[in-house]
This record gives sequence, structure tokens and C-alpha cells, in this order.
Amino acid sequence: MAGFARASSSLALFLLCLVVSSSEGREFLVGGKTDAWEIPNNSSQSDSLNQWAENSRFRVGDTLVWKYDGSKDSVLQVSKRDYVTCNTSSPIEEYKDGNTKVKLDQSGPFYFISGAQGNCLKGEKLLVVVMSSKHSGHLGMAPAPSPVEFGGPAIAPTSGSGPFGGGLIVVFGVLAGWVLM
Ligand SMILES: *[C@@H]1O[C@H](CO)[C@@H](O)[C@H](O)[C@H]1NC(C)=O
Ligand SMILES: *[C@@H]1O[C@H](CO)[C@@H](O)[C@H](O)[C@H]1NC(C)=O
Ligand SMILES: *[C@@H]1O[C@H](CO)[C@@H](O)[C@H](O)[C@H]1NC(C)=O
Repeated sequence: MAGFARASSSLALFLLCLVVSSSEGREFLVGGKTDAWEIPNNSSQSDSLNQWAENSRFRVGDTLVWKYDGSKDSVLQVSKRDYVTCNTSSPIEEYKDGNTKVKLDQSGPFYFISGAQGNCLKGEKLLVVVMSSKHSGHLGMAPAPSPVEFGGPAIAPTSGSGPFGGGLIVVFGVLAGWVLM
């Protein structure tokens, strides 16, 4: 009986964790301001969009928001190769409504370029890397300014997993064990 009670509370904790992590998604205005999706003004800023992206810590479930003039520009989600070569001919997705939202639904890199003729070659492109969920235990609201905490050997309780990361797997395994018995 005690085992069952423990299993129930473990299950409750497990479900709570699911709810907490699924409600965590945040919205990021690309470039941090409304008119950032355009050709960078000059060479000293030519990588400003990607500098912004590097300073934001994206997680699965977050949403990118672009605000731009839909009659002049668009947002193309493309493959890495098309990102590098600025090839606009076969995008994975094309958005041109001026208020584009893209949900980052998996970890890894996402590549975006401008659909306007020549703009990508002049630097209007964005690479966003979404961290894998085992690194997303960080519950802070604001994107952390530096990635230092990942390197911290002394502070991290387990190798890189968040407060619930390792525990969840244990809880789940124990639950599965009970069900089998
Ligand atoms: C470029 O310069 C103009 C005028 O100074 C400014 O309004 C705009 O926001 C700048 N664009 C970027 C991408 O910084
Ligand atoms: C380029 O941008 C920087 C920073 O906004 C500005 O200080 C500089 O005057 C600009 N240079 C040119 C040639 O527009
Ligand atoms: C752009 O991509 C398309 C489809 O992948 C390909 O057929 C075309 O040759 C590419 N163009 C350039 C300039 O690389």
C-alpha cells in the first residue's frame, strides 16, 4: 500500500512536471525590436541578427515572432545549404504576412533567410539553435546572458541535466516497474 501511495505521488509529480514544462514556451521578437528583419545597415552590424540569437537561449516550445512589412519582405525557413548559399528557390516554409510566428518544436538549428531579392546576400539571415530538452531544466524567465553555467563542474548536480531531468527518468522507470508487477 505504501508503495502504491508512493507511486501515485510520483505520478502526480511526473504529470506536474509535464504541465510545467509544456507551459514554459516564450515568445521572442526577432532582433529584439520591430524593424529588425531587414538588411543590416552596415558591415559593423552585418551579423546583428545572429548576435541577438546567440545571446538568447532558445528552448523547445519557444516561438519566434517577426514583424516586418509583408509587402516588401518575407521570412523563409530553409535548409542549412540554402541558408549558406542564400538560395530562396525551395524554402521549407514561406511566410509573408508581416507578423510571422514560428514555433521552435524541436532542438537543433533552424535557418531563416529573407525572401526579398538579394537581401539574404546582404546579411538578412538568421540562425537559431534550440537547446535539447535535457539542457532546458533552467526555469528562469529571461534568457540568460551568458552560457557559463553549462561549463560549471562543481555546481551541476548531475551531468548537465536540470532539476527534474534525471529524476523524471527514475520516476518513470519505477512506475513502469510497478505496472509490470
Ligand atoms: C538601420 O538604421 C535605421 C536608421 O538609423 C534604423 O531605423 C534601423 O532600425 C536600423 N536597422 C537595423 C537593422 O539596425
Ligand atoms: C554603422 O553602424 C554603426 C553603429 O550603428 C554607426 O556608428 C556607424 O556610423 C555606421 N556606419 C555607416 C557607414 O553607416
Ligand atoms: C537552389 O536550390 C534549387 C533546389 O534545391 C536548385 O535546383 C538550384 O540549383 C539552387 N540554386 C543555386 C544558385 O544554388
